[in-house]
Amino acid sequence: MTRATVAPAPEAPAAARAPRALQAVRGMNDVLPDEAGLWEQVEDAVRGVFRQYGYRNLRVPLVEPTALFVRGIGEYTDVVEKEMYTFEDRLNGDSLTLRPEATAGIVRAAIEHNLTYERPQRVWTAGPMFRHERPQKGRYRQFHQFDVEALGFAGPDVDAEQMLMLARLWKALGVAEGITLSINSIGDAPERVAHRARLIEHFERHAAILDDDAKRRLHTNPLRILDSKNPALQEMVAAAPRLLDLLGASSRAHFDGVQRLLSDHGVAFRIEARLVRGLDYYNRTVFEFVTDRLGAQGTVAGGGRYDGLFEQLGGKPTPACGFALGVERLILLLQESGSVARAAPLAYIVHSGDAASALAGRAAESLRDAGHAAVLNAGGGSFKSQMKRADVSGARFAVLIGDDEAAAGTATVKPLRGGGEQFTVPVAELATALSASPPSPI
Ligand code: HAM
Repeated sequence: MTRATVAPAPEAPAAARAPRALQAVRGMNDVLPDEAGLWEQVEDAVRGVFRQYGYRNLRVPLVEPTALFVRGIGEYTDVVEKEMYTFEDRLNGDSLTLRPEATAGIVRAAIEHNLTYERPQRVWTAGPMFRHERPQKGRYRQFHQFDVEALGFAGPDVDAEQMLMLARLWKALGVAEGITLSINSIGDAPERVAHRARLIEHFERHAAILDDDAKRRLHTNPLRILDSKNPALQEMVAAAPRLLDLLGASSRAHFDGVQRLLSDHGVAFRIEARLVRGLDYYNRTVFEFVTDRLGAQGTVAGGGRYDGLFEQLGGKPTPACGFALGVERLILLLQESGSVARAAPLAYIVHSGDAASALAGRAAESLRDAGHAAVLNAGGGSFKSQMKRADVSGARFAVLIGDDEAAAGTATVKPLRGGGEQFTVPVAELATALSASPPSPI
């Protein structure tokens, strides 16, 4: 009976009793309705372009066995070394990880379901990824990607197709001006092994100036030293042997094929011999679409070929190529360029009085029947306050229904944007009248 003998805790002061408001985890953002409209527009545009190229949706879990990422992305990458959200399954002690990217999960799923058994597959997925990075503009701990993978295709045509697809998307969203494409070839395994040996030799000759990071990577991941931001290493990095100069005939032909296709389709690119990307599974083509409008986090989309990943994860040899697009960065770029109009309803319906409210409800439904977005004022309010809400909603028209309109079965239409005169129509003809109006210029 311990409970009975415990003295009641002294009454806490009122202020202490009020629960403290909690906040989102650092680097993990809410997307509030004002901004989510833009997200939806971007998502619609992206899905539309993917569909045009025959890519189909595939959905994989947010949580995977930790070993998948260690084997897939590489033990000595930044992502695996320090950025993964890893935890133990309470039931059996398995090590699980919140996905830091989608490629490894998609390849796991493709192997598990024998997806490429009959034919190659073009797939895409979308959703949150998790990396424990230091948050800053354009870099978050929970961020979103559109991820595209072409599984079972060996030729340079799919590499080029994916870059074409992104170039088309930038055009559709009106941001093509601000984005440039860099490409490189990092060769096949034997070329990479030879290059690695040459790199180590080169770095060892400059051992005296290597910083701690570079020393640590010298024998684990020397390629990453090329990415070093340390000014003291730049001269040595610039003089390092380039993989591009060591490519064999077949890698060279593949890379030439990619370039020819891009040129044929008028997609401008720059060969960036130092482009290596941060994940270990790549071979041959790697590419990034970069903008200078977002400061340090300028890579909007990046990817490449990964012909060895299926085998590395226990599957049959399957050539593949893919990329991921960072949704937050694209949204930031769109906001910065001001190039996407805000999604707004066609009409906001203002009403007062019981009879008017019933007619207003029918008017709203008739607009939706015609495929329009219509917001019906809810929660009452004076005519003036309802008109204010109509304006804030961004609607093109305010549709007013009061006692007079209710008695006559009509609605008064007041253009809020894009000009035009106020007019009155029977509610039965409202949808036709508003559909006939020229689209709003916003
Ligand atoms: P990634 O380069 O690690 O590639 O990421 C792709 C894109 O995701 C980046 O270019 C960037 O736009 C966005 N991104 C990455 N980290 C963050 C972050 N912390 N905050 C905001 N955005 C971020 C991959 O993930 C590969 N799986 C791409 C791929 C698919 N390769 C072949 N298939």
